Amino acid sequence: MSEPVFTAVAPLADLPRGTVREVGVSGRSILLCHDEDGIHAVENRCSHADMPLACGRIRNGWIMCPTHGARFDLATGEALGPPASMAIATFAVRVVDGMIEIAA
Ligand code: FES
Repeated sequence: MSEPVFTAVAPLADLPRGTVREVGVSGRSILLCHDEDGIHAVENRCSHADMPLACGRIRNGWIMCPTHGARFDLATGEALGPPASMAIATFAVRVVDGMIEIAA
């Protein structure tokens, strides 16, 4: 199995705790979410009706879709309640020399 390829996407200093930032990698829209557990990277697309998750509130390890209110676990992508039932994609994150890198 090959090693994941990480791409630098943003300075850590630009993502204070409690904030969300949208980045693009290889044509995909990905959200960086910095919560009390650290930094997570999730697909910026709700599994319910394909609407963006950007602008969704993050709290206690989840992000809430701003369109119909489904919540997703930031670490696993698991849907935590209706109207969504399918998970969203998540991506490995690391910080190297003050830069956030994701494998996407
Ligand atoms: S589009 Fe996200 S809950 Fe419906």
